[in-house]
Amino acid sequence: MASDMTVVPFSERENIREDRFNQVWSEELNEVFADVAKYYDKANNVASLGLWGWFRSSFLSMIHLESGHKALDVCAGTNAVGIAMMKKQPDLTVCAIDRSSAMQKVGGKRAQQQGFEIQSTIGDVHKLPFPDESFDVVTLQFASRHLRVIEVFEEIRRVLKPGGHFYHSDMLRPRTRFMEVVHYAYLRFCLLFTSWIFNSGSAARGCKKYFVNALSAFYSADELSQLLSDLGFSDISNKTHMGGLLGFHKAMK
Ligand SMILES: C[S@@+](CC[C@H](N)C(=O)[O-])C[C@H]1O[C@@H](n2cnc3c(N)ncnc32)[C@H](O)[C@@H]1O
Repeated sequence: MASDMTVVPFSERENIREDRFNQVWSEELNEVFADVAKYYDKANNVASLGLWGWFRSSFLSMIHLESGHKALDVCAGTNAVGIAMMKKQPDLTVCAIDRSSAMQKVGGKRAQQQGFEIQSTIGDVHKLPFPDESFDVVTLQFASRHLRVIEVFEEIRRVLKPGGHFYHSDMLRPRTRFMEVVHYAYLRFCLLFTSWIFNSGSAARGCKKYFVNALSAFYSADELSQLLSDLGFSDISNKTHMGGLLGFHKAMK
């Protein structure tokens, strides 16, 4: 599925992704995250063979934060990125937006337990309920595969202040066909294993195929850089790990 996607222009690819996945995106995912919220962080730690914390700290190391900055974490989930940003720069204002109240409930509690306050909005990120040019920093981690990327990136650019930065972290479509085959096999195994040990509900179990299909129709690191540039971002850089499986992007408005 993936290799033929590489020749498809981005706007068309977005249409294909939407045709294939819209039903999951709009009807099933919220149930999946309601189900996994209570064990989301533990499951990621298991699935990443203990590397989850390292993923986050590598991502955080590229995020430039200054005293008084206002940051928005898009698809914030359990607030892992927001909390890490506040640990790095405690006088930040951090806003979080996510459609899943279950994920945000876990995230709000976690932030509070560590003495941080994160302003939570429950909503769909395809329309960000914030004024133009209101944030110095916007982050988006591990969620773009579930989104109409062009629409969301345009919204992110709108709410960023001029000179503000967008930081993106995700599993990306690997660089080679070999890495794709290996990674998708590993993902299938992980999804089975974690749904077994964490006793996932039917929504999460039913979405196992989707998670691999969504990745195989997603963007590689270079494609994502090109997409950001097409949308008007500048000073774009990316850093990849594990043969392009994991990628961090930084882009300026
Ligand atoms: C895999 S989790 C990532 C959470 C967090 N960013 C992290 O790195 O741990 C994906 C998150 O995206 C959210 N999400 C997916 N589609 C969304 C949408 N259209 N609008 C808002 N949130 C969405 C889900 O509710 C979920 O919390």
